[in-house]
Amino acid sequence: MKVVAITGGGQGIGRATAFHFAKAGYAVSIADADAAAGREAAKILRETGAPAFFLRTDISKEKDVAAWMKATVRALGRPDVLINNAGFFRNGPFLKLKPRDFDAVIATNLRGAFLCSQAAARIMAARKKGGAIINIASTRAFMSEANTEAYTASKGGIVALTHGMAMSLAPYRIRVNCVSPGWIEVRDWKLSSRARAPVHSKKDKAQHPAGRVGRPEDIAEACLYLADHAGFVTGQNLTVDGGMTIKMIYAE
Ligand SMILES: NC(=O)c1ccc[n+]([C@@H]2O[C@H](COP(=O)([O-])OP(=O)(O)OC[C@H]3O[C@@H](n4cnc5c(N)ncnc54)[C@H](O)[C@@H]3O)[C@@H](O)[C@H]2O)c1
Repeated sequence: MKVVAITGGGQGIGRATAFHFAKAGYAVSIADADAAAGREAAKILRETGAPAFFLRTDISKEKDVAAWMKATVRALGRPDVLINNAGFFRNGPFLKLKPRDFDAVIATNLRGAFLCSQAAARIMAARKKGGAIINIASTRAFMSEANTEAYTASKGGIVALTHGMAMSLAPYRIRVNCVSPGWIEVRDWKLSSRARAPVHSKKDKAQHPAGRVGRPEDIAEACLYLADHAGFVTGQNLTVDGGMTIKMIYAE
């Protein structure tokens, strides 16, 4: 049985991706800083018959990442796929943005992905069977609203980290790609006590050529494609945004 390791798998896109890979026959290891969410996701997975493991992990901390990788190998076996999904959005007016807030976003969203990739790639390289790493970037790596520099920089870094690692890890047959989600509604994929039904206006939907806001399952499907059906694809970014970023907008 193949093993996927997913960061931020307790809620949102990560939880949906964990469930999608379990349905495709993977054993799933979840790292999440939110213990209640991670425990619940792993419990639901096990109730459906999927081997699942969770460890409370702050991916910005080297020790946590090392412990998660070690425990994953012990519980489920060596990872075939790593999905660097954990991330958060914290921003404020650029002229007042505190360096420590900028650092905190980079530490999780970018440095955390580096730490997890290095830990997983060392195991994949030693096993000599190849592997896949999928990073969750964002359309905000390529376009911006004002006052979003920390998040935007972290996601631009993820895109560059992706093609960098694709080169460095190619000799070990490890493919590295990223997915850039657009607007993905995650409210109904939260810890059950916090989950809410999504509500979108006509305008929200019309903003997307696809006619709707994105769902976590859309990103999960893209990840599964990159993991299992994209043997000749590496170093790439796959935008999954319902066409929002290619839509030309004139003032009304
Ligand atoms: N939802 C969107 O519209 C959207 C769009 C573009 C990109 N993304 C990216 O997709 C990924 C998932 O986003 P989401 O909307 O599902 O978020 P979410 O907040 O619903 O879930 C993120 C999970 O990551 C965990 N997490 C955060 N920091 C962590 C840390 N340091 N260590 C371990 N776990 C940590 C949280 O506890 C949470 O369970 C993020 O990288 C986000 O930037 C989301």
